[in-house]
Formats: sequence, structure tokens, C-alpha cells
Amino acid sequence: MRVRPRRAGLTLTRAGCERFPDALAAGDRESRIQPRPRRESERKDTEMGALDGRVAIITGAGRGIGREHALLFAAEGAKVVVNDLGGAMDGSGDDRTPAQQVVDEIKAMGGEAIANADNVADWEAGQRLINAAVEAFGDLHVLVNNAGILRDRVLVNMSEDEWDAVLRVHLKGHFIPTHWAAAYWREQAKAGKEVKASIVNTSSTSGLLGNPGQANYGAAKAGIAAFTVIASQELIRYGVRSNAIAPAARTRLTEATPGLDQVVKAPDDPGRFDVWDPANVSPLVAYLATESCPANGKVFFVQGGKVQLFQPWTLTESIDKDERWTVAELESEMKRLIGDGGAGVAR
Ligand SMILES: NC(=O)c1ccc[n+]([C@@H]2O[C@H](COP(=O)([O-])OP(=O)(O)OC[C@H]3O[C@@H](n4cnc5c(N)ncnc54)[C@H](O)[C@@H]3O)[C@@H](O)[C@H]2O)c1
Repeated sequence: MRVRPRRAGLTLTRAGCERFPDALAAGDRESRIQPRPRRESERKDTEMGALDGRVAIITGAGRGIGREHALLFAAEGAKVVVNDLGGAMDGSGDDRTPAQQVVDEIKAMGGEAIANADNVADWEAGQRLINAAVEAFGDLHVLVNNAGILRDRVLVNMSEDEWDAVLRVHLKGHFIPTHWAAAYWREQAKAGKEVKASIVNTSSTSGLLGNPGQANYGAAKAGIAAFTVIASQELIRYGVRSNAIAPAARTRLTEATPGLDQVVKAPDDPGRFDVWDPANVSPLVAYLATESCPANGKVFFVQGGKVQLFQPWTLTESIDKDERWTVAELESEMKRLIGDGGAGVAR
């Protein structure tokens, strides 16, 4: 990869830096020419794609980051189920056009794909989604859980429906396809087949680091990271690896966020590396989906040219004694753990 000695020079608002704590660092790094993924039609017959022979389901792949995953997976030789119910940003409505357009693009470049409009948060629809892959392509190797919506509101104003809708699409919408895919892979493993499957989930810094105004979304996204770790522990015995990403990219979700719309803009100079291009996220997901990838139970931040490993929740300093603490003792001793308090404590 060639390196250009030029500053990316993004101007970042405070809100943008809070939501994507890494944004400043990414914008401040030296820019690089972005390698364009090769399309299927550009590959010579003898060249192997990283995902040749893999069958992949990508949820929410009609737009944004999921669309880029679908295009790169196909370019790398995967057969792709492009799932998307095509709703609005808040999850309302449905439209089959975006998923079909991605399928048409993949076919135009010589790849194989089918569209699927099932709702990932619906129990029977989740089973249909897994069946669709097996019926169309004879097997399933990869599940990328990516579909998502936003209903931002400070928690004191948040309605029950805003909470439920976001938890349903993200958290339940990760569990349901994973459940049915895992059932399929367990059956294969029990029948004596060597399974080399991969699940890639989509978390967010909004949950792993916290972001005001997104209690519903952040709780779901932190839950997805926990779900990923537990899935990695349960499913590895069947040959199924589970990992998660926390991406940062320009999509309708970030473009509609006050304070972020300007931050995520593409650079005016087309020669400069566009760190917010959603296509930057997909190579990591494709790598995690490859048959020989060893990663399991990991969560990665990914933006631009940066891939960063998250540390899991970790026990750190402690106070400990061989009997129960009194409240009065804790009033004095807890200072050793929490100092003067915590984030945002009013003084
Ligand atoms: N854009 C970012 O910077 C960013 C940051 C962190 C996490 N994420 C996560 O990345 C994922 C993709 O988001 P995006 O930014 O590309 O947004 P997007 O709105 O462009 O794409 C999400 C897609 O999911 C689909 N979808 C929504 N509910 C669905 C359902 N129930 N069943 C099937 N499809 C459904 C939508 O129709 C849409 O096409 C989401 O999980 C999002 O939370 C994005």
C-alpha cells in the first residue's frame, strides 16, 4: 500500500469525538490511498478469493455498512444472502428495493446473491432466513449480524416503545438469526461434518464506551458484545467462531446525528484517504469470516485504516478483608477504588 505524506486534517466537533473517541486520532493520522476492492469480474479465473466457496448471510445489507460487506464478500467469492427489510432509520416501514439493488450489483459484477426481506427480530422469519441460504446455496458458513435502527432520546424522555424497538432489532435481532444458524451448525457437527463457521456481530462505542441520548441503543450494543463472548464460549465446540466489531463510518445513521453530519463528510480532495467511508469496515469483517481465521470471542473497533482490540470487562483494583464491610468503613475505604467519584459527578 502506498503512503502519501499528507495530513488528513478532518475538523471534528466535540460531539463527534465523544461518540467516536477515536475519530480525532484517525483524522490526525497520515492519509493513505484507499485500495479499491476488486470486483468478481476483475479477478482472473486462477485467482482465489478470500471467501471462495463460503455462503454468507449479511443482515441489514441493503444500505450503509452492510451493503459494503455484501459487495466485498461477493468480490471475495462468497455467495451472499442480502437480508434487509428496508425500513426507515427508526425501523418503521419496509421496502424490498435496497436489498434487491445490492443483489443486482453483485450479479452485475459476476457474483452470486439472493435478496431476503425477513425481519431479523422475528422468530419464524429468522429461521426462514437461515433456510433461505441453505436452500439457495446448499450450505451456510457465515452469519454477519448487522441490521440496526436508531431511536435516540435522553432516557428521562424515552418512551417504552423507543426502548423496546431498539432492543428488539439489535439485541433480539442478533440472537434470533444466531440461534437458528447455531442450530443448523450443531446438526452438521453432530452428523460428523467438520464445521468452520463464523459469526460477526455489530456492537458500538455508544454501548462499550457510553453515549448520552442512546440509553436504548447503547444498552443493546453493550449486550451484543456480551452475547458475542458467550456465543464464542458455547459454539466453539461445534466449530463456530463468534466475534464483534464496533464500527465508525458515514451512513444515514451518522449523517442524521447532530454534530456528526459535518464530521463524517467525505474529504473534498478525492486523493485523500476517506476515513469515514463505510467500505473501510468490511475487510475486517471479511477476514473474520474466512475459514482459517483464528479469532474467537474478540471485539474490535474499526474505522478508516484502524483496527483496535477492545479489552473485555476486567476486574481491576480491589479492597478485601476477611469479614463484611460496614457502611462507615466503606465511606472511607472506597476512596481507594473510586477516588473522588466517577464520570460527570457534580461538584
Ligand atoms: N454507522 C456507524 O458509524 C455505526 C457505528 C456503530 C455501529 N453501527 C452499527 O452498524 C450497523 C449498520 O448500520 P448503518 O450505519 O450501516 O445503518 P443503515 O441504516 O445504513 O443500515 C442498517 C440497515 O439495517 C436494516 N434493518 C433495520 N432493521 C431491520 C430488521 N429488523 N431486519 C432486517 N433489516 C433491518 C435497515 O433497513 C438498513 O438498511 C448497525 O447495527 C449500527 O448500529 C454503525
